[in-house]
Amino acid sequence: MSHGRFDNPIVAALAGFWDLFRKQDLSDKLTDDDRFDGKTLLVTGANSGLGFAIAVEAARRGAHVIMAGRSKIPEAGDKVKKLSGSGKVEMRYLDLSKLDTIHQFAEGLERDHIKLDVTILNAGVALAKARKTDSGLEEMFLVNYLSNVALTNLLLDKGIVDTEKTNSCKPRILFISSDSHQGSSAVDYDEFGTFYEYGPSKGISDYSYFKLLLNTYATELSRRVNGQEIKAGINVMCPGPVHSNIVKEAPFLIRIVLKGIFKIIFRSPEKACLPVIYMSVSKDYEGVTNQYQHMFNVKDMDPKVYDPDEGKKLWDRSINLWKEVDPAAIQVNGL
Ligand SMILES: NC(=O)c1ccc[n+]([C@@H]2O[C@H](COP(=O)([O-])OP(=O)(O)OC[C@H]3O[C@@H](n4cnc5c(N)ncnc54)[C@H](OP(=O)(O)O)[C@@H]3O)[C@@H](O)[C@H]2O)c1
Repeated sequence: MSHGRFDNPIVAALAGFWDLFRKQDLSDKLTDDDRFDGKTLLVTGANSGLGFAIAVEAARRGAHVIMAGRSKIPEAGDKVKKLSGSGKVEMRYLDLSKLDTIHQFAEGLERDHIKLDVTILNAGVALAKARKTDSGLEEMFLVNYLSNVALTNLLLDKGIVDTEKTNSCKPRILFISSDSHQGSSAVDYDEFGTFYEYGPSKGISDYSYFKLLLNTYATELSRRVNGQEIKAGINVMCPGPVHSNIVKEAPFLIRIVLKGIFKIIFRSPEKACLPVIYMSVSKDYEGVTNQYQHMFNVKDMDPKVYDPDEGKKLWDRSINLWKEVDPAAIQVNGL
C-alpha cells in the first residue's frame, strides 16, 4: 500500500518549521521590475490562501488574472481587484472534483480566445476521510492529482497553452506541490485510482503521496512537451508552510491545534506567494523547465520523480484511468 512521509498532521505541520529559518538563496532576485504586463495568468484554487495571494500579486504586477475556483465567485475576484487596484481580474467556475466542469472551463477559455502565458495549478485539499466523487474516484486523489492531468491536457490540446509560440516568451506551467512528497513510497499501481476508506493519518499520508504523483507527472509532461527544444517551462514548487485554510477539513481538535500552529509559526500567503511569482515572471526562468524550488531555494525532488520509466508508466496509467471515468477524456496529439 502507498504511503507518504507523514501520518500525523501535527508532526507534518511542525516539519515545516525549520524550513522557515533556512537561508532563501533567490529571495532578492524578485524585484519590482518583474512584471506581467500584457500576459495572462491562470491560477486554480484562487479564492483562498496561496491562490488568492498569487492572484493579488500577479494583478498588482500587471497580469490579466483568471481566478479559477468553486466558491466565493465573484466576491474573491472583487476583493482581488480592490487589493491590487487592477480591473484585469476575472473569476471562472472550476470544481476539480467534477470532471465535466473541467471540460466546461477549458471550453470557456477556448471560446473567449484566451491564451495563457502562465498557468498555476495551485488548488489542493487535505481530507481527513475519504469522499467518493461522481466519477467514483476519491476526492483528494482527483483534486490533487488526476484533475490536474485532465486540465493540463485539455489546455494543451486546445492551444490555450500554446507550445507552438514562436516568440521568446514560452508559456509557463507551474505545479504547486509540497516538499512532504520527499520519501513517499513508489507509485502503487495495484491501488492506483481505487477508492478506499481512510482516516486522518492515512489522509495526511496520501496527501504527500499524491504530491509525489503530481511531481512525477509534471516531470513527464516536461519531457513530452520539450523534446529537443524548450516549448514550455514546466516547473514545480513548494511554498513552504503557509497560514492558509488547508486544514479546514481536519477533525475539530486537530484543527484547533493546527490553526494555532499556522497562525503563530507559518508564513502569510502574501509572503509565501513571492517565490511562485518569481518562477512565473522572472527572466531567470525563461527557457527553464523541470526545475523544483522549495520556497526560494532550488532543490531536487524525490529521486523517484525523475525516473523516465516511472514517468511513462504513470502517464499511461493516468490517461487510461481518465478515459475510464470520463467519456470526454482526450489524448493530446504528439504527447
Ligand atoms: N498551506 C501549506 O502549508 C502548504 C504547504 C505546502 C503546499 N501547499 C499547497 O498549496 C496549495 C494551496 O493551498 P493553501 O495552503 O492555499 O490552502 P487553501 O487556503 O485551502 O486553498 C486551497 C484552494 O484549493 C481550492 N480547492 C479545493 N478543492 C477544490 C476543488 N474541488 N475544485 C476547485 N478548487 C478546489 C480551495 O477552494 P475552496 O475554498 O472552495 O475549498 C482553495 O481555493 C495546495 O496545492 C497545497 O497542497 C500548502
